[in-house]
Amino acid sequence: MKLIQVKDKDEMSRLGAKHIIHRVNNQPKLVLGLATGGTPLGTYHYLVDEYNKKRISYQDVTTVNLDEYVGLTQKHPNSYHTYMEENLFKFIDIPLNKTHIPDGSADNLDKECQEYDTLIESLGGIDLQLLGIGENGHIGFNEPGTSFDQRTHVIELTESTRVANARYFSKIEDVPKFAITMGILTICESKEIVLLVSGENKAEALDQLLRQKKEDEAFPASALIHHPNLTIYADESALSLYK
Ligand code: F6R
Repeated sequence: MKLIQVKDKDEMSRLGAKHIIHRVNNQPKLVLGLATGGTPLGTYHYLVDEYNKKRISYQDVTTVNLDEYVGLTQKHPNSYHTYMEENLFKFIDIPLNKTHIPDGSADNLDKECQEYDTLIESLGGIDLQLLGIGENGHIGFNEPGTSFDQRTHVIELTESTRVANARYFSKIEDVPKFAITMGILTICESKEIVLLVSGENKAEALDQLLRQKKEDEAFPASALIHHPNLTIYADESALSLYK
């Protein structure tokens, strides 16, 4: 595990983007795992910026997203399909048929999960997975208690995750109760992982992760501690409890 301490969210975002761009430039056909939420927004902004400056092309990159809410159509304003379109895909040259996000509106969710695993397998796995972390230590939407041996599956979101994500919805009741998420087994099989952590509300989870000695399904991020190629970019406020 490599910990890179940065000043603030902007520096985390810039270095996160630089890391990704470096990998894409070395391996244009990179299979890139993407996250949503507040944390990677600045990184996506920098990825777009570098594209506009003609310093990178994403034409041959394939992306696979971590998760999607169950019950929202792809066009729903709060779906992660919309999030990716509005924050990254529409601004860069990636062909849309090379971008993949689980379909939370599928009639048969089990089949959707299996097909997502088959897709990732057919791509030869994920080269670089970008992650954020939940206040309760979730990665993807793998909530505390999720088996580390699972691949893509449907998960019931915890109340704390729904409350944390309610800021994007008009009221808490509108936040979906279930999501499809890539499983921890698949995430940990990624050849490389970059974890971005920013803000005081993540300080407890980050402190726990950095002190964690063994894997513990009660704290999903602990699955990452033995990963051979994990880089964490964390800002001062996220590191405020880790002295
Ligand atoms: C999102 C995801 C989640 C988020 C986590 C943190 O695709 O997989 O694990 O990374 O919930 O969310 P933010 O960044 O909004 O604090």
